[in-house]
Amino acid sequence: MATAELAGKHLVLGMTGGIACYKIAELTRLLTKAGATVQVVMTEAATQFITPVTMQALSGHPVYTSQWDRRVPNNMAHIDLSHEADAVVIAPASTDFLAKLVHGMADDLLSTLCVARDCPLLVVPAMNRQMWQNPATQRNVAQLRADGVEVLGPDSGPQACGEIGDGRMLEAAATFEAIASFFAPKILRGRRVLLTAGPTFEPLDPVRGITNRSSGKMGFALARAAQQAGAEVHLVAGPVALETPWGVIREDVQTAQQMHDAVMREVSGADIFIGVAAVADWRVDHASEHKIKKTADRALPTFTFVENPDILASVAKLPNPPFAVGFAAESGDLEIHGEEKRARKNVPLLIGNLGPLIFGLDDNEVILFEAAGATKLPHADKQMLAHTLIAEIAKRLPTRA
Ligand code: C5P
Repeated sequence: MATAELAGKHLVLGMTGGIACYKIAELTRLLTKAGATVQVVMTEAATQFITPVTMQALSGHPVYTSQWDRRVPNNMAHIDLSHEADAVVIAPASTDFLAKLVHGMADDLLSTLCVARDCPLLVVPAMNRQMWQNPATQRNVAQLRADGVEVLGPDSGPQACGEIGDGRMLEAAATFEAIASFFAPKILRGRRVLLTAGPTFEPLDPVRGITNRSSGKMGFALARAAQQAGAEVHLVAGPVALETPWGVIREDVQTAQQMHDAVMREVSGADIFIGVAAVADWRVDHASEHKIKKTADRALPTFTFVENPDILASVAKLPNPPFAVGFAAESGDLEIHGEEKRARKNVPLLIGNLGPLIFGLDDNEVILFEAAGATKLPHADKQMLAHTLIAEIAKRLPTRA
């Protein structure tokens, strides 16, 4: 999939020290097979894990490891190697190398090349669970994202050290797909996309409230994919602890009413509206201004509910609506409820989450419901699925007058 994006691309593949270096042999093969030119640059530590001879044979190009390589006549390897690059990809990216990038350090060929580059930088972290969770690493990753660096992965699962958790490098095939998506065609250039994501929080009193278990991951992944496809993206997010995707405008809200109002303020001029948020259907009428206390007679509190506005349906009802897309998670009979819900909300496309109602997962499987029928998409990582969904939405957009 997606190999066309890589044909003719010139990549500098920077390898740093880590057992995941073995995956780079396969990644190099996939990239070159897809038509990319791969220039491998290794740190000294990387050469302890896999030899430059292997990487040279697989990439078909001489491998560089030193700033002082005599093969580069002007001692400008750090400039020359990335001169025509479409991207620098650091895989595996060690804890140490991420920290160096944050500080713009330049004490070997690869780090100098990163500072001197004039093209996008993608990093594919690979490390032990504790190293990944270390607050310093998390700070560094957040800073790199803020600097516009694309962070691919990491994956979670068994690690070379015997532990299980987050931090292992994406498999070669997944890394390949992520790089290909990065070069995704800008199919939404000039388009404005408005999304909702995450849960809502409906207060009962100043400290308590009703919410749901939506993680926001799918909505954030879609916001990011739309941004990568060239759109101007405005994301209205309920309470979630997720990083804002690079280049996306984010507005945080708590309640369904606030989400509705934010959407209505932003919707004019939007070409696409994607309602991914799990919006509360009801809120408590007149939430208490004070914390509700137990009374002497231990009477139970009672709450009266009122219905929240349906944001998606309100957008679809506008006189000149954007292309409106809904999401649906059902605990059963999705095939029946999905199409019924799409028709009821009067939207051209509704995306149904297949599978059990488990929240917070990193992958998903969906069915597209539209007037013409239902189409099932293959099970995929949410990031990859987001790219596929954006492509499906772009295909269905009415051409502009
Ligand atoms: O009705 P249900 O909640 O299952 O519909 C799901 C779709 O409708 C989602 O796209 C969700 O974002 C949207 N929705 C909404 N406002 C509501 C309830 C749902 O926009 N009040």
